[in-house]
Amino acid sequence: MALASIQYWGLDRKPFLQRFAMGINSADREIALKTGELYASIWDQFDDAQWAQFSDDHFNKWSPLPKENQEFIKGKICLDAGCGSGRAVRSMLLTGAKKVCAIDMGVGCVRNTEDRNKDQSDRLEVKHASVLKIPYPDEIFDFVHCDGVLHHTTDPAGGFAELVRVLRPGGRIVIAVYGRGGLMNFAIYSARMFRNIIPQGFMFGLMKTLNPDPVMLYALMDCMYVPIRKNYYINEIREWFDDSTFTDVVRMDSIWGPYAYGRWMKGEGYIKFRATKLDTA
Ligand SMILES: C[S@@+](CC[C@H](N)C(=O)[O-])C[C@H]1O[C@@H](n2cnc3c(N)ncnc32)[C@H](O)[C@@H]1O
Repeated sequence: MALASIQYWGLDRKPFLQRFAMGINSADREIALKTGELYASIWDQFDDAQWAQFSDDHFNKWSPLPKENQEFIKGKICLDAGCGSGRAVRSMLLTGAKKVCAIDMGVGCVRNTEDRNKDQSDRLEVKHASVLKIPYPDEIFDFVHCDGVLHHTTDPAGGFAELVRVLRPGGRIVIAVYGRGGLMNFAIYSARMFRNIIPQGFMFGLMKTLNPDPVMLYALMDCMYVPIRKNYYINEIREWFDDSTFTDVVRMDSIWGPYAYGRWMKGEGYIKFRATKLDTA
């Protein structure tokens, strides 16, 4: 049994069968659990004030929910797939969503999302589940959000198909994935070569000792130790938005986009798209 499963079983004491009831194969599940545990360990380092600041920076400076969608979300049923610590969940709840459902493969991420949004718990439902097999029926969400998740999975296009499945006709979707190229990616992939030499736990402890800033810890552990880190060309992602299924497909800018520091640094940047699912009825 892989280390991730042992940690998962030992730390979280979840019913044994739950781990096998996600409808995804064991290789996908092991990778996703390992990824989830890494992020959960990072989110746990943020106290409430640091988390609120980091979330606020994310949505108000770096990667905002599209303005068009902020109005749209009000009174709607939303999904955040790969919710992490519930940053987007909070943003959607405070924007006025009727209900927000969230899923993540990190047990600690589910806990973080619930704890950090407990003042809004009557409108929140969080499940331990994979974006590769979303535990909801077809076409039930008005708004589907998946920021920074698909590129960490074993089947990003399959995950995207799942997001589209649960989105109702006329509903809106926002996804974001890493772009290719640029000096920053070169540096990240150079650093990732060391992850086979420097154990994750050692680096985690070292970072905590040297620099207690959880944002720095997040940046380093995320870049170096996440099991899968795929990068895309903008056109590859644009092609996911099939014209017979979507309209109003727009690539959005963010501070992680190519325009902030130039293509030499960020390459294709952070590729964030919004779109509307066609309502052909
Ligand atoms: C970079 S974090 C982004 C979190 C959140 N979207 C945000 O912006 O704060 C990626 C998240 O995706 C989750 N994740 C990875 N693979 C997943 C999968 N197959 N299904 C659901 N969540 C997954 C991780 O556990 C992690 O919380």
